[in-house]
Amino acid sequence: MESAIVLVAAGRGERLGLGIPKALVQIQGKTILEQALDRISKLNPPRLIVTVPAGLESQFESLIAPYGLNHKVVAGGETRQQSVANGLAHVETRIVLVHDAARCFAPAELFESVEQALSSHLCVVPGLAVADTIKLLDGQLVEKTLDRSKLAAVQTPQGFRVEELRAALKTASSDFTDEAGLMESVGHKTFVVPGAAEAFKVTTAADLNRVGTAPIRTGIGTDAHRFSASGELVLGCLSWPELPKLEGHSDGDSVAHAIVDALLSAAGLGDIGSNFGVDRPEFAGAAGEVFISETLSMLTAKNLSVTNVSVQVIADKPKIGPRREELEKHLSSLIGAPVSVAATTTDGLGFLADSRGIAAVATALLSERG
Ligand code: CTP
Ligand code: MG
Repeated sequence: MESAIVLVAAGRGERLGLGIPKALVQIQGKTILEQALDRISKLNPPRLIVTVPAGLESQFESLIAPYGLNHKVVAGGETRQQSVANGLAHVETRIVLVHDAARCFAPAELFESVEQALSSHLCVVPGLAVADTIKLLDGQLVEKTLDRSKLAAVQTPQGFRVEELRAALKTASSDFTDEAGLMESVGHKTFVVPGAAEAFKVTTAADLNRVGTAPIRTGIGTDAHRFSASGELVLGCLSWPELPKLEGHSDGDSVAHAIVDALLSAAGLGDIGSNFGVDRPEFAGAAGEVFISETLSMLTAKNLSVTNVSVQVIADKPKIGPRREELEKHLSSLIGAPVSVAATTTDGLGFLADSRGIAAVATALLSERG
């Protein structure tokens, strides 16, 4: 790409109302700024100017620097138009694309098609057909119903010949919500190329809900162990001295093992046997916490985080109710996410009814960190 890009990211994000600049709000595990840079960096623009809230230059710099682009961080102004003017002062190319950081999912191809149209036009914007019928109002009264087929909802990146944009900004008498509007006000024609649905602007909390849900993955795990003749029961990583230990390659903690299996299955990482089985003697006799913490490291390496875990103990003994809260608290702190614990018996049926063992079933929900 030959155009410089001015990425305007100096807004306060007042309509989002989160009390931090919009570009620093996280979506799918990354800031809006980084989401925008993920796409822009594919283009490797000759120059990238980012306008940021005054005073936050170094915080923004540390997010932008890892992309290794030829970039400059510049304090923005009170209005978007002022921010664009501040950014444009550092542009040395003949053409420039001005882009809202808030349209962080605008694909690289959209920048390319705007740039391409700049070879024959001096002001280019992406636009989408309008789905709603738009009415021109006078207060609450409709003055006119507009012909929808002639309307376009305009996005960014907007492309300009730098010389003409500079001249228009110099003579601007009022504040425009986009630079194409400013250019039109001084007599230039704007050319519209097809926009992209992904280039919508994150403006309100509803927009965040629309995209904020990271991809999720669910998993299930089951485990059962028989009581041994001695020792002290460990269940859910807590000790239950009134009952003997469960048998197993490790400490036999059915609850911890079912949880680990659920986490591994949600991550597509196999199961407890394939990861910590008899061929890994270092895990022989290991406590449930060890498996949990190893599994959490494996999830982190796969960029997954735990949203919640639910586990059900199936046993006649011990009675979980009196210690449920304690169990939930302990397991939640080990996992770093809410763990809920329930219990049931088997209506007198099978090995679980006559207290020969303890089974547990767990489900886990993981989110990708983006
Ligand atoms: N912008 C800017 N400088 C300003 C105002 C806005 O650089 N003084 C940028 C924003 O960071 C955003 C883009 O212009 O990327 C579009 O603006 P908008 O969606 O209105 O963002 P905010 O101004 O942050 O939001 P709000 O109006 O709700 O405060
Ligand atoms: Mg604004």
